[in-house]
Amino acid sequence: MSEAAKIAAQESDGESSQKAERGADAGFLWDFWYPVARSSAIQGRRLATTMLLEVPLVLGRTDDGKPFAMRDSCPHRGIPLSYGRFDGKNLECSYHGWKFDGCSGQCVEIPSLTSQDKLKVERIFAGHYPCEEQNGYVWVYMYPQTGRLPETIPEAPRLITFSAKYKSTHLECDLPSHIDHGIIGLMDPAHGPFVHQSWFWRSKTSIHEKAKQFEPIPNGFRMSPHSPSTNSAPYRLLRKMTGAPVTTTIDFVLPNMRTEEIRSGRLWFSSLTTVTPVRRDLCRIDFLAAWNVPLPVRIFRLFAKTFLRQDQETMIQQAQGLQYNPRLMLIDDADRPAKWYFALKANLLESRRTGAGMTHPMDGPVTLHWRS
Ligand code: FES
Ligand SMILES: [Fe+2]
Repeated sequence: MSEAAKIAAQESDGESSQKAERGADAGFLWDFWYPVARSSAIQGRRLATTMLLEVPLVLGRTDDGKPFAMRDSCPHRGIPLSYGRFDGKNLECSYHGWKFDGCSGQCVEIPSLTSQDKLKVERIFAGHYPCEEQNGYVWVYMYPQTGRLPETIPEAPRLITFSAKYKSTHLECDLPSHIDHGIIGLMDPAHGPFVHQSWFWRSKTSIHEKAKQFEPIPNGFRMSPHSPSTNSAPYRLLRKMTGAPVTTTIDFVLPNMRTEEIRSGRLWFSSLTTVTPVRRDLCRIDFLAAWNVPLPVRIFRLFAKTFLRQDQETMIQQAQGLQYNPRLMLIDDADRPAKWYFALKANLLESRRTGAGMTHPMDGPVTLHWRS
């Protein structure tokens, strides 16, 4: 049983997230864009290998600069194509020299064929996924090998910015967890005072009751624009600088994306965080941020790294416990966003299965209360 199914099955109040039960599948969401690597990881004719949703990938860039992603497996006998030679357009398999066009995956040559052969080379394709670059990341549209690539696919997600000049940075870190734990960890409001105790952020004693309004958005939910926590020094500072109120909006959208906008007068901060499944026991957080707040990149990275490391250490410890299949709980209200996530996921799969519209787990705006 996948982690999602396990948690959903053990839920106390049995909301619609029980539908998340999915038998032996890995609990991945297909037909979405996922960030795969930094653009800088594929330069020149060097190939890079990686994995997304348990699919081994070989990445490269054609001589005219277009990134591509192929399944790292030759359709002839399965040897990784990454052992082959890339000439800036075609990738030649190291075993029998079949050549594939990097951008389409189409076979363009089978050296062993003679004039007697009738085999239609151009009908053979290596596994191949659409690729786009945004904000210095290569994104790959992952669709199941058994399925078909839809005729139109949306654009890859990108970070929203609010002025021409800004600073930006990115961080990543691996979590030894199933994607579902990575995501509910990301949206979990109650761990802050315990995991993220820092002199610059907050102490355990600053814990207090909060009420946050959430609203449904397509494929996700939004923490409605609000003034952020007054127990955090950086927000107090921001308010002092602009004299204008600080508002924060946080969205979560399937399959894996959290965006946050903080605005105060002309100053802004924007971030995009994704949790991407690599294997069922491994996911990766990619964090991308941009801002025009007077904050040096080095200082910001120091803080952000501290935060990420605290989350990572916690998830490593959690993974120790999860090895033994413990019973788990989701409680109201602090775990309600996690419940919505499981329900959104289940409802999306259900709507894809039946072809009917997707039902949203939220009826409308709702206020959640918790202490953090
Ligand atoms: S295995 Fe790739 S060409 Fe034969
Ligand atoms: Fe955290």
